[in-house]
Amino acid sequence: MNILTFNQEEDFVQAGTNLIVSLLQSNPRAVLGLATGSSPLGIYARLAKMYAKGLVSFAEASSYNLDEYVGLSEDHPQSYHNFMNHNLFQHIDLDPSRIHIPNGNAEDLEAECQSYDNLLEENGPIDLQLLGIGHNGHIGFNEPSDHLNGSTHVVDLLDETLAANARFFTSMDDVPKQAVTMSVGSILKARQIVLLARGAEKAEAIKAAVHGPITTQCPASLLQCHPNVILLLDQAAGRLL
Ligand code: F6R
Repeated sequence: MNILTFNQEEDFVQAGTNLIVSLLQSNPRAVLGLATGSSPLGIYARLAKMYAKGLVSFAEASSYNLDEYVGLSEDHPQSYHNFMNHNLFQHIDLDPSRIHIPNGNAEDLEAECQSYDNLLEENGPIDLQLLGIGHNGHIGFNEPSDHLNGSTHVVDLLDETLAANARFFTSMDDVPKQAVTMSVGSILKARQIVLLARGAEKAEAIKAAVHGPITTQCPASLLQCHPNVILLLDQAAGRLL
């Protein structure tokens, strides 16, 4: 793992942005794996600014998001569809027909998961996969567990994840209890993985991901098996390394 730790938020954002922009410059048809949550927000804002200045184009690229809540309508303020539109897609020239996010409202969620995997198989591999990390070491919504799910699947979110997600909802009862997530297997197929973490509350998870045993109890530790992972951290998230 290549670990880069930054003192300034500005430099953290610039490093992540540069990785995506240089990929698009060398391969305009790049397949991007995208994450939601607070970690990539600064990068999405910077990409939008660079697009506005004509410094980057997504016109020939395509994107696959990691996950979506089950049961939230796409236009719900907290759906990941809405998050991505609001924070990135509406500001850039990514062709909507090449944007992919799992449909957490599909009548047949099993079939939805299968068709998401088929798309990834046909159009992948993902060239650059952005990831955040949960306090419990989850990546995507692959939660700590005794077993590893090899394909896109519906997951019951653990209490600690529900608690972390609660900050975006008016009450705990409104927090979706399930999500559709890409599997660790699909994540590991990406050519390059860029994991983002900021803040002291991520330090234990980062330590376990980097130095801990490779275990499904810390899904991010499975990234140790991948040959091309970059960690972009602030000082607080990297303080236990
Ligand atoms: C989001 C996702 C999650 C988040 C993680 C960290 O698409 O898959 O794994 O990346 O929960 O969230 P933040 O960045 O909000 O701390």
